Amino acid sequence: MSDADGALTGPDLGVEGASTADIPEGGMLLGHFEGGSVVLVRKGGSVYAVGGKCTHYGGPLGQGLFDGELLHCPWHHACFKPETGEAVSAPAIDPVQSLAIEQKGDRVFVTGVRKPRVSRAPIPSGPASVVIVGGGAAGFAAAETLRREGYQGPVTIVSDDDSAPYDRPNLSKDYLAGTAQSEWMPLRPPEWYRDARIELLLGKRVAAIVPAKRKVRLDDGRSLEYGALLLATGASPVRLDIPGASLPHVHYLRTMGDCESIIDHAKRAHAAVVAGASFIGLEVAASLTARGLNVHVVAPDAIPMGRVLGPEVGGFVRTLHEQHGVRFHMGQTLSEIGDRSVTLKDGSHIETELVVLGVGVRPNLQLAEEAGLSLDKGVLVDEYLRTSDEAIWAAGDIARCPDRFSGERIRVEHWVVAERQGQTAARNILGRRERFTAAPFFWSQHYDVAINYVGYASSWDEANVVGNIADRDCLVAYRKSGKTCAVATIYRDLHSLQAQVAMERDDAQAVDAVVMATAT
Ligand SMILES: Cc1cc2nc3c(=O)[nH]c(=O)nc-3n(C[C@H](O)[C@H](O)[C@H](O)COP(=O)(O)OP(=O)(O)OC[C@H]3O[C@@H](n4cnc5c(N)ncnc54)[C@H](O)[C@@H]3O)c2cc1C
Ligand code: FES
Repeated sequence: MSDADGALTGPDLGVEGASTADIPEGGMLLGHFEGGSVVLVRKGGSVYAVGGKCTHYGGPLGQGLFDGELLHCPWHHACFKPETGEAVSAPAIDPVQSLAIEQKGDRVFVTGVRKPRVSRAPIPSGPASVVIVGGGAAGFAAAETLRREGYQGPVTIVSDDDSAPYDRPNLSKDYLAGTAQSEWMPLRPPEWYRDARIELLLGKRVAAIVPAKRKVRLDDGRSLEYGALLLATGASPVRLDIPGASLPHVHYLRTMGDCESIIDHAKRAHAAVVAGASFIGLEVAASLTARGLNVHVVAPDAIPMGRVLGPEVGGFVRTLHEQHGVRFHMGQTLSEIGDRSVTLKDGSHIETELVVLGVGVRPNLQLAEEAGLSLDKGVLVDEYLRTSDEAIWAAGDIARCPDRFSGERIRVEHWVVAERQGQTAARNILGRRERFTAAPFFWSQHYDVAINYVGYASSWDEANVVGNIADRDCLVAYRKSGKTCAVATIYRDLHSLQAQVAMERDDAQAVDAVVMATAT
C-alpha cells in the first residue's frame, strides 16, 4: 500500500505474494502490485484484492477498516465491496480497482486488474418515471443509484442551480483556496448524464408539486409527471437583515456561483470579514487566508464551533486559525456593512473590501409544505425515507428521519448523509425496503487539520477528551445520560470508523469500548 508520503509498503503481491496465514478471516493485509497499493482481505474464507486508493479523494484504504463485510476509507468513510471494488456507500461513487488473484500453495499472488463489475442487470420493475427535485448531494446520488441498480425508466433531475451537480464541500475548502482545479468540481462530466439517460434540467425551479395528479410544475410553466418523486431541495443560507447586506462585495456561500463571486472579489481584496464561526465560516477564513487576505471572523459565540464540538476543540480551532493570522471578534455581531468597512455591535470598525456571511442555513421546505407533506422541523420521513405521501421520498438537508442509535428523529446537514440518503431512497423507490441506518458523519478541514465527527449530540453532559488536542491526536466522546452519543477525532481515523460501525450496529457498549481502547 501507499503510506502517507506515497511510498509503497508491504510485499510485492505480483512477485513474492503473501502467505494466506497472514490474512485471517475478517482481516486485511497491505501490499502492492505494479506500482500501485493493494489491500487484501479475507471474507467468507476467500481472499479478495482491491486497489488501495479511495476513488473519492485518494484516501489510503489500507489505513481504514475492514469490518468483515466492507472496506471503509479512513478519510470520509466511503465503503467498498471487496469482491468487486464497488463503492457501496458515499462519498465515493466510482469503484476501486478490483484485482485478480491466484493461489499457489499457501501463498496468494495478484495476477492483474479485473474489469469493474458493478452495474446490475436491467430491472423491468419500478415506477413509470422518477423525478428528482434538487441537483445536489442527495439528488445526484439518487439518480446515480437508480441507474446503477438497473432502473430503465425515465429519470429527471430538476435543479434551480445553473451548474450540474458538484462537490459542494470543496466550495469552502481547496476550491476557494485556489488549490483545487475546476475540473475536479463536477461530480460527473456532462456526457455521463447523456450516456446514463438522466435528464438534467438546470436553472429550472420546481414551483409546485401536485400530489393528487403526481405532477410537478416548473417555473417555466411546464409540468412533469412522476411515478415516484424524490425531494432533495437542500438548504439556503440565512440572510442577514442589516444595512449594507446587499452591497456587491457581500456574499453568502452555497453554490458554485457564490464561490466564483467570492473568488473574483478576493482577487482584488486585501482584507475579508467572515460573519459566523461555524464550520463553513471558519473554512472560508482558512481558504481566504491561503489566498493572502487578512481575515477577521466576527461571531456572537464565545468559542468558535463550541456549540458543536465543545470548548476544548473549539479553543484548539481558534488557536490554529490565529496561528495562521486570522483575527477573532467573538461575542460580536455585524450591525452595518459599508463600502470599505463593517461596523460591529460595540461600535468598532473593521476595514474590509470583502464580506462573507456564514450565519447558518435553513432547509428549503416550502415545496413540501405547500404540497401538504407532514413536516416537523424538516420533512418527516420514515426509516425508508418515504414522506407522508406514498409516492414521494425525501433526502438530505430537508429530511427528518428516525436515527436508531440516538433514538431520536434527526435532521442533519452533512454531505455524506445526504448522499447516502439519496442512495437509500433510490433503492426504496425501486421497492427494496432498505432501512436508512448510516450513523451521521461529517468532516471539516482547517489548514492541514481534518476534524471527523460521527453520531449525533445536539447537547451533552460531558465531553471527554482522550489524547492531546494540541498535539492533533485526540478523540472527544460526547456523552449524555451515560451514553456516548457522538465522537469527534483529530488524526484518529481508525477510531472514528470503529465508532461509526458500532453506532450503525446500535451497540453503545462497543462505542464505549472504542473510546476506552483509545485511552490506553
Ligand atoms: C460551502 C459548503 C461546505 C460544506 N462542507 C461540508 C463538509 O465539509 N462536510 C459535510 O458533511 N457537509 C458539508 N456541507 C454541507 C453539505 O454540502 C450539505 O449537507 C449537502 O449538500 C446537502 O445535500 P442536499 O442534497 O440535501 O442539498 P444540496 O446539496 O444543497 O442540493 C439541493 C439542490 O436543490 C436545488 N433546489 C432547491 N429548491 C429547488 C426547487 N424548488 N427546484 C429545483 N431545484 C431546487 C438547489 O439548487 C440544489 O441544487 C457544506 C455545505 C456548504 C454550502
Ligand atoms: S478519500 Fe475516501 S472517502 Fe474521501
